Amino acid sequence: MSDEAQAPRINIKAEEARRFVTNVLIGNGVPQASAETVARCLVEADLRGVDTHGANRIPSYMKRIRNGVLDPKAVPTVKEITPVVCQVDGHNSFGFLPATLAMEKCIEMAKTYGIGMASIKHSNHYGMAACYALQAVRENMMSLVFTNSSPAMTVWGGREKLMGVSPIAAGAPGGPDSIPFIMDMAPSVAARGKVHRALRRGEKIPTDWALDGEGKNTDDPAKALEGVMLPMGGPKGSALSVWMDVFSGVMSGSAFAGHVVGPFDPSAVSDVGHMFMAIKPDLFVSLDEFKERMDYLYKRVVSAEKAHGVERIFYPGEIEILNQEKREREGIPWTQSEIDALNAEADLVGAPHLIV
Ligand SMILES: NC(=O)c1ccc[n+]([C@@H]2O[C@H](COP(=O)([O-])OP(=O)(O)OC[C@H]3O[C@@H](n4cnc5c(N)ncnc54)[C@H](O)[C@@H]3O)[C@@H](O)[C@H]2O)c1
Repeated sequence: MSDEAQAPRINIKAEEARRFVTNVLIGNGVPQASAETVARCLVEADLRGVDTHGANRIPSYMKRIRNGVLDPKAVPTVKEITPVVCQVDGHNSFGFLPATLAMEKCIEMAKTYGIGMASIKHSNHYGMAACYALQAVRENMMSLVFTNSSPAMTVWGGREKLMGVSPIAAGAPGGPDSIPFIMDMAPSVAARGKVHRALRRGEKIPTDWALDGEGKNTDDPAKALEGVMLPMGGPKGSALSVWMDVFSGVMSGSAFAGHVVGPFDPSAVSDVGHMFMAIKPDLFVSLDEFKERMDYLYKRVVSAEKAHGVERIFYPGEIEILNQEKREREGIPWTQSEIDALNAEADLVGAPHLIV
């Protein structure tokens, strides 16, 4: 059990979390409609159990506004490139805004032409990538969701922080007897947060997670934090992170090749790039047939013969759906220290505290 799991939790209803985040954002100069979009995306991550990308990001995001490196009032704009391709300029707004707008445009184009693609430039951290795949699934659309991000990982064979731990997401609607396919994964062996947790517990880490400051594999979490995270699957994870940079950074005109500034660094503009695609699922078979086939795929996956010691096989995105069902019912479990940090942000702008 993690340290966090041992700390007492206070369950906050999703609606209250959204209200709170919206008010703090408005207090920091974000227009109401934009604030509601950002709050919806952050709380969706919390609901799905992706706590690393939820409302607890508010303090670091607000610091970026206060330092003048993120424009709270910026409104993204769209330029049509071809009938099925558009370019969205985030104008250094919250990444959630150009990302949501871009997927909206992709869906619109795909409804008419079967496919829609958007390249997004001058954006910021957009949180949980699944947010935009879910946006497409709600409209019965398949999707690809790419982003680049600040350097945190080495390329295979290297020792310097160069590539981002840039998540790759994809989605497809399910049928009446299944759930949507939602894949959302970062290309590193393990999240850096797990290294922090091992350090707190005085535990060792597996030697394939990270390199120390001298480029050597280490089982010491403190040394790992001085070094770099390793890509999953060696050269394969490394290639996936370069892939995200080609499609999101090089292609869009945004920063790339290690020049994106991270969301926890309030010293400079991020200039993140993304690339989205929406695809109509019934281009080659009818929608009913597509959904029947998705049901069959789901059944085949979750009822596969289990390996020794495995109790249940999950479909991509299934654990997050189970988390969401529980948290919609019971609330989002935050620790007192997390609530205190959020309330401190509210105090800075005179917004109301979280009602617990
Ligand atoms: N915006 C950014 O720059 C950025 C950067 C890094 C990560 N992130 C976000 O962080 C989040 C976490 O990423 P992650 O790589 O740690 O995700 P993860 O390892 O928790 O999950 C990755 C994928 O594996 C599936 N999965 C997990 N456990 C499973 C199991 N037991 N059986 C079957 N499938 C399973 C999940 O449904 C998911 O599709 C993501 O939402 C990602 O978008 C964002």
